[in-house]
Amino acid sequence: MTHTHQTLTVDLGDRSYPIYIGSGLLRQPQLLAPHIAGKQILVVTNTTVAALYLDTLIAGLESLQIEGLQLDRLVLEDGEQHKHLDTVSLVFDHLLQQRHNRTTTLIALGGGVIGDMTGFAAAAYQRGVNFIQVPTTLLSQVDSSVGGKTGVNHPLGKNMIGAFHQPQCVLIDTQSLATLPARELSAGLAEVIKYGLIADASFFEWLSLNIEQLKQLEPALISQAIYRSCACKAEIVADDEREQGRRALLNFGHTFGHAVETQMGYGQWLHGEAVGAGMAMAADLSHRLGWIDWPTVERISRLLEASGLPLWGPDQMAANDYLQHMQVDKKVTDGTIRLILLEQLGAAVVTSEFSSELLHQTLSHQSVC
Ligand code: NAD
Ligand code: GLY
Repeated sequence: MTHTHQTLTVDLGDRSYPIYIGSGLLRQPQLLAPHIAGKQILVVTNTTVAALYLDTLIAGLESLQIEGLQLDRLVLEDGEQHKHLDTVSLVFDHLLQQRHNRTTTLIALGGGVIGDMTGFAAAAYQRGVNFIQVPTTLLSQVDSSVGGKTGVNHPLGKNMIGAFHQPQCVLIDTQSLATLPARELSAGLAEVIKYGLIADASFFEWLSLNIEQLKQLEPALISQAIYRSCACKAEIVADDEREQGRRALLNFGHTFGHAVETQMGYGQWLHGEAVGAGMAMAADLSHRLGWIDWPTVERISRLLEASGLPLWGPDQMAANDYLQHMQVDKKVTDGTIRLILLEQLGAAVVTSEFSSELLHQTLSHQSVC
């Protein structure tokens, strides 16, 4: 059966690539065919996703009948706690043991953890080979699979080791969300809401109106949310691929969130949960600066809460815990913490123009009035 789909392009000159979005696309392997250059493929996934979708993807790739195709698979342990260099080494071991050459294509089948690690392996193996993203979580479909940021965590800092390496294409099968646990769906909604907050107030409104149906994965609405999120990200990445400026806005809530993830131990708080709490904290600081009014902060809190996201970091984290981790953030220059804050709903800036006193008030969750 042929399924309809929508296509977006990440416009990066001769490195441009399509994002295919639709229901049932895992069963449409012909979309992948033009993006496979050589005769070798390694599908990288994890134990959870392998049990659900690996056979379908492998069967689809086999059905392409690429002459002489060597089709390998590698199933990694599941979890953010495995997103480190030793796990990426397993990918290199496999590629070398199976004699993959420079024309190989890696396919990342899974969430952001698999996508980031597989992309990083592709960036480094023989100084760079092709890879394809097949994201299966909402978070990876709306964010991590697009834009070419790849990498792993370090015990001292989240995503601190990595490379920019763009995929050949992104294949988003919205049907794969049907098996996603509710907590993971909420985590993905955090990154969807992010686009509304930083770039598109009307999208924020639309999300607020439709949040209950989105949580129920109403097909037309969830496809629209993914499409609008990817369109927003694709436009920003095309404008600022290497994060020299505007792309940093995509890190809204992340400086606070990464501090939570690192402090609590990777995998304890989901990335999207930490970002959700971080966005609430960034909104709080934006209000303390007089940039957004209190009703706006409340509207943001309501949507985060309705999405099933936490409205603050862990109770046991003190302001100094945050500050320690925030100093290792990639946006820190010359020891100065820079944050993404809201000038208004739908418009964000990167700034260091806040007093340490106000930041301290936010981090210690002091009451505003
Ligand atoms: P994840 O990859 O850990 O996936 C979440 C869980 O869902 C895992 O247990 C996974 O096995 C499972 N899963 C995946 N697909 C499933 C499905 N269809 N059905 C059932 N279970 C499924 O987490 P994530 O939220 O996808 O990604 C988070 C990671 O992405 C973090 O490491 C974060 O740093 C990274 N990230 C990267 C970028 C980027 O630009 N590269 C952007 C945002 C986040
Ligand atoms: N998630 C941030 C970025 O891709 O730039």
